[in-house]
Amino acid sequence: MPDVRFGTPDPIKGNQVPDVETARRAAFAHPEHEKSASSLTVSASPQRGTERVAAGGFNLWEREISPMATDRIRSFLAERRPEGPCLVVDLDVIRENYNRFARALPDTRVFYAVKANPAPEILSLLAELGSSFDTASVVEIELALTAGATADRISFGNTIKKERDIARAYALGVRLFAVDCVEEVDKIARSAPGSKVFCRVLTDGAGAEWPLSRKFGCVPEMAIEVLEHAHRSGLVATGVSFHVGSQQRDTEAWDRALEMAGSVFRAMAERGIQLTLVNLGGGFPTRYLKEVPAVGAYGESIFGALRRHFGNRLPETIIEPGRGMVGNAGTIKAEVVLISRKSAEDPIRWVYLDIGKFGGLAETMDEAIRYPIRTPRDGGEMTPCILAGPTCDSADVLYERDPYDLPVGLEIGDEILIDSAGAYTTTYAAVAFNGFPPLQSYVI
Ligand SMILES: Cc1ncc(COP(=O)(O)O)c(C=O)c1O
Repeated sequence: MPDVRFGTPDPIKGNQVPDVETARRAAFAHPEHEKSASSLTVSASPQRGTERVAAGGFNLWEREISPMATDRIRSFLAERRPEGPCLVVDLDVIRENYNRFARALPDTRVFYAVKANPAPEILSLLAELGSSFDTASVVEIELALTAGATADRISFGNTIKKERDIARAYALGVRLFAVDCVEEVDKIARSAPGSKVFCRVLTDGAGAEWPLSRKFGCVPEMAIEVLEHAHRSGLVATGVSFHVGSQQRDTEAWDRALEMAGSVFRAMAERGIQLTLVNLGGGFPTRYLKEVPAVGAYGESIFGALRRHFGNRLPETIIEPGRGMVGNAGTIKAEVVLISRKSAEDPIRWVYLDIGKFGGLAETMDEAIRYPIRTPRDGGEMTPCILAGPTCDSADVLYERDPYDLPVGLEIGDEILIDSAGAYTTTYAAVAFNGFPPLQSYVI
């Protein structure tokens, strides 16, 4: 295998915030990188961002967060040289992300969405920092409890639950549940009596790169019935939740959802039931190839929308960030297994990696999430490639409709880095599809 060495780029310079692809090329064209190309380099300090302040003085982009692997991740990979594809997560980045959420939405409680990455080290850190947890199953509830969260910091946020799992959650002390229909309310009334429930309303997911569609939630008119039913069933009808779609790049998306939430609050008040909670869900993006607004911009937009739709009687609010909390904290190290063409005239190369859709990159489905990829050959001529995984399943293709630019000089055996891969990767990996082990994870 060739000796792979990644220099440390300085991706973003000056006040411009270029597209990551451009930044990446510029970075690797940097003389420092060329110098270090033949020696193992774990750099000094990459510049992780710039300040960009909008005309009105509001810090629209806060400090740019680079999607590139941190020094700690690079050092880990260089020293440990783990065999096979693996994810390395830097806890320092998660700490910084948590603090950014706390600063951007100071009156809002953070319920980390455990599904994004349930690594015990991540949960323990977040529990220590004061986070609460949004969970989708009893196993996730147990993970959060083991990490040090008390049951009053846990929400059972899945709208689709077996009644015996509701009973188990209740036995573990959980008293906050999501619903989106009267049938689910009945289960909770029977198996978690007296608990608080919030009703999820449908959103269209517009503006999201990974929309959550119509599977969850109900129309606001039905939410009113559901909450009224909960109240009559001896539960505490506590509020409304929504999810504006994952990787939501439109900071205004919360406005439409909060307008709906406001209307449900008013309708319930007319029925004599005072709701108190708005669960603003997840959706906060991580930076892949395209730049995204910083969390501060989301905070401003959400606060404005709350004022518009609730006036001075602001409800209690919670957020459930998953991707935005852990996405940019992780980098996957992978290897090029094969580079080939389908015919002698084929203008496009197929690049097969030792990781694909079944190894953790499921979010490349429909080519929705486009990960930043770096190779040791960056800086030279690039050519569009079809990128695929290693399994014997033709669905295991990452980017084909929109081929991915990779260096002409890329070779079989090269190690590559897939950045911003901390969210929704380890848990999506198959346990043994085609005999490949699940994605290894290291949390540092
Ligand atoms: C109920 C709920 N909350 C929060 C999240 C986290 O969303 P994101 O990763 O977009 O922040 C999800 C993701 O599926 C979810 O289903």
